[in-house]
Amino acid sequence: MMLTEKGTIAPHGGKLVDRAVPAGERGERLKEAAGFLQVRLGPRTLSNLEMISTGVFSPLEGFMGREDYDSVVGEMRFPDGLPWSMPVTLPTDEETANSLTEGSEISLVDGIGEIVATMTLRERFRYDREREAREVYRTTDTDHPGVAAIYRRGDVLLGGEVDFLRDPDRGPFPHHYHTPAELRALFVERGWKKVVGFQTRNPVHRAHEYIQKSALETVDGLLLNPLVGETKSDDIPAAVRMKSYETILERYYPKNRTVLAVFPAAMRYAGPREAIFHALCRKNYGCTHFIVGRDHAGVGSYYGTYDAQHIFEEFEEGELGITPLMFEHAFFCKECQGTASSKTCPHDPASHVFFSGTKVREMLGKGEYPPPEFSRPEVVKVLIEGQRVEQN
Ligand code: ADX
Repeated sequence: MMLTEKGTIAPHGGKLVDRAVPAGERGERLKEAAGFLQVRLGPRTLSNLEMISTGVFSPLEGFMGREDYDSVVGEMRFPDGLPWSMPVTLPTDEETANSLTEGSEISLVDGIGEIVATMTLRERFRYDREREAREVYRTTDTDHPGVAAIYRRGDVLLGGEVDFLRDPDRGPFPHHYHTPAELRALFVERGWKKVVGFQTRNPVHRAHEYIQKSALETVDGLLLNPLVGETKSDDIPAAVRMKSYETILERYYPKNRTVLAVFPAAMRYAGPREAIFHALCRKNYGCTHFIVGRDHAGVGSYYGTYDAQHIFEEFEEGELGITPLMFEHAFFCKECQGTASSKTCPHDPASHVFFSGTKVREMLGKGEYPPPEFSRPEVVKVLIEGQRVEQN
């Protein structure tokens, strides 16, 4: 594993990207930017912009140009061979694209028209939606939420380096928002050399807890890194989930071994491709290990249970630079009287109770309380309160 001089894992591509313009220079730059042609960004692109700027997407310095885009979609690599699995693009409509000149500086503005960043427009290009869906999502079915998002996008993509003219939006959970540089410093402060990252878009249930703690047995610290960007509408809202994470950490996790930090990305539901992407982003945050369980980042039945684990075999040892920790489908076994998997439990499947985030959501939706084998009672309480607030 490559290390930085502080002893933390090297960011992907070797250098932690920082596209934030220093606070003292922003006033001048904003004045200048007021004279540039503008492109308005939607919430997903704004989230991508921020993650490029803070280095979560290192080595990306901006939105992908055609060569990077084609190579990442087709080969899961940048043209120089460095692995990368998800396109990161700036879509716009044809009319806006036609009004811009390649090589010029443009302003990127948010939903209320305020300038967020400038971009050197290197190129604008059309792209093949169907190819992207097929290669990245393994389906062209527009019922797939990630594929649907491709088809909602504008017809033209704009590529170029960005200069971010704001502080990152620390959002509704500022205490749990950390840039990669901040998390790396925190890990050094805690003396953690090996850190395992855990991605989730669900409240933590007992199978999650089991795989997190199994992993933690072999490393120094756990980064509970829930995704809080855009998710599909039937996923549990981030605010409720954050409360449930705080609650479970308080009661059941050692404070000196765990950090809760938000992952401000949108969910793509790209299964295997997203597992690689999630791992590389966590590497940039300073994790040395990353948990990949059953149907990671999956949705519906588009991906096989372990496809998101198999995709790691497509890379040579060390190419990704972060170690995936794979876990079998975990369940509660009535005979073992504990959480286990087919690797550790010899009993008949009839003794096994399977649980998943989807199942917890379904039970709550029907007004049923998930049993303690499923979810910690303290978590269930937070989820039920959250549901009441939502219904009122
Ligand atoms: S995800 O879309 O963010 O991947 P989820 O929050 O359900 O969904 O999963 C978080 C992580 O836990 C993923 O790595 C997933 O594979 C893993 N996981 C979820 N449920 C189980 C389970 N029952 N057994 C093993 N791994 C699981």
